Amino acid sequence: MTEIVDRSETVDAAQPASQIDPHVIVLFGATGDLAARKLLPGLLHLSNTGMMPDYRIIGSSTSELSDEDFRHLARHACDQFAVGKISLLQWANFEKRLTFVSTGAGAQALAEAVGKAEDEIGGGDVRRLHYLSIPPAADRDIIQLLADAKLVERSRVIMEKPFGTDLQSARALNDMLHQYFDEDQIFRIDHFLGKEAAQNILAFRFANGLFEPIWNRDHIDHVQIDVPETLGVDDRIAFYEATGAFKDMVVTHLFQILGFMAMEPPTALEPVSINEEKNKVFRSMRPLDVTQVVRGQYEGYRDIPGVAPDSQTETFVALRCDIDNWRWAGVPFFLRTGKCLGGGERIISIAFREPPKSMFPDNSGVGTQGPDHLTFDLADSSKLSLSFYGKKPGPGMQLEKLSLQFALHETGQDADVLEAYERLIHDAMMGDHTLFNTAEGIERLWEVATPLLDAPPPVQPYAKGSWGPPAISDLIAPRTWRLPFERRWRSGSAS
Ligand code: BG6
Repeated sequence: MTEIVDRSETVDAAQPASQIDPHVIVLFGATGDLAARKLLPGLLHLSNTGMMPDYRIIGSSTSELSDEDFRHLARHACDQFAVGKISLLQWANFEKRLTFVSTGAGAQALAEAVGKAEDEIGGGDVRRLHYLSIPPAADRDIIQLLADAKLVERSRVIMEKPFGTDLQSARALNDMLHQYFDEDQIFRIDHFLGKEAAQNILAFRFANGLFEPIWNRDHIDHVQIDVPETLGVDDRIAFYEATGAFKDMVVTHLFQILGFMAMEPPTALEPVSINEEKNKVFRSMRPLDVTQVVRGQYEGYRDIPGVAPDSQTETFVALRCDIDNWRWAGVPFFLRTGKCLGGGERIISIAFREPPKSMFPDNSGVGTQGPDHLTFDLADSSKLSLSFYGKKPGPGMQLEKLSLQFALHETGQDADVLEAYERLIHDAMMGDHTLFNTAEGIERLWEVATPLLDAPPPVQPYAKGSWGPPAISDLIAPRTWRLPFERRWRSGSAS
């Protein structure tokens, strides 16, 4: 069960809103799933906690809505997905800043809507933030619309993932963006990098002396980045049928997490250094080997209206990935994600090598519960666990698996966590690229993915509620998947 935390009044602004210029935010895809689940509730939360400068939000999509309709839609979304209560005053304050213009109304209408919103909050100094929360196929049209409406000046543009659908389309999209926007205006978002727990990987690795010396092939046997979901895809079938689990999750979120996990220490906590180290990891990744990929599709997926009866879209993917550099040569990274699986988790699990020689007899229990592990849980209220063999109390020398666990919510600070999109929208308004991706990084990841995109193995069926097709065991053998966990997180630390 996810713990509900009332965050309505609690977050301290990382940077006072007064230091951010007034903003007109144009939200393309405003009637879509992401806007409802994350973006509108996130903007409301930033507004309620004093982290927004003066602002207006213009929703836009192919639908024809009045301002009033859009406000209703936004209210419904926030009622469903915002965390914590929304007071009348908070809503009134937010709602009056919302308007809507259909993309079908054209460049002139969009320019007028933005101009009017700018006049209301200060005219010439107002910044524009265009958020393209739309499928990849629509990106180019919206960029052209922005250019035609002359809304490039004073603007920044957030590009949702997936950025393109393969190497060629990502390059074409970068080329087109660069025709109108400078690179420092472009924010390629991957919300996993906005997760508090993902940034904690950097703190954990580089702010402590303890772990970095063992963060390499001499001490680590393998790494698992495992993001099973219990959710299905029924609400977003048009997007999903054209996208699939690999493009939706792996080439984006899971590879980005792998970048944080595997990178060398950056020279500074700033965008160029962090992206350079992440991109070096991506450059060292071997192109995917299709014999090391399992694609799955849950039983019943093809019965969903809108899905082709012979659909080969994968709702599950597990694969092995190798990084050919001095730190990681020979250490496999196993990645897995999928829909309608037996549990919803987001973990990175690092398995350490076993000691070269054991003085403990076979019947002592040593090694029987897998290698010792370090596990990061990337939930909003993150957790960390270091498991190891220790002695069972009493006579003799029987060993069992024990663990040291940390859970953010036990510190009483979890109400301060910004949801990933909130953090990233706020960063984009400040012009901070640290947690955003570069053109080079994204293109390289599509390049790594090319063998799989060119010759995807057929999808294998799996039962809803399982952990994927049976072939995933062979993929990781002789090792085993950590999930489902043998033991739950300790109850004091359970989510
Ligand atoms: C999105 C994917 O980017 O990430 C979804 O499109 C997925 O399919 C979601 O469910 C998972 O994100 P989170 O933050 O809920 O783990």
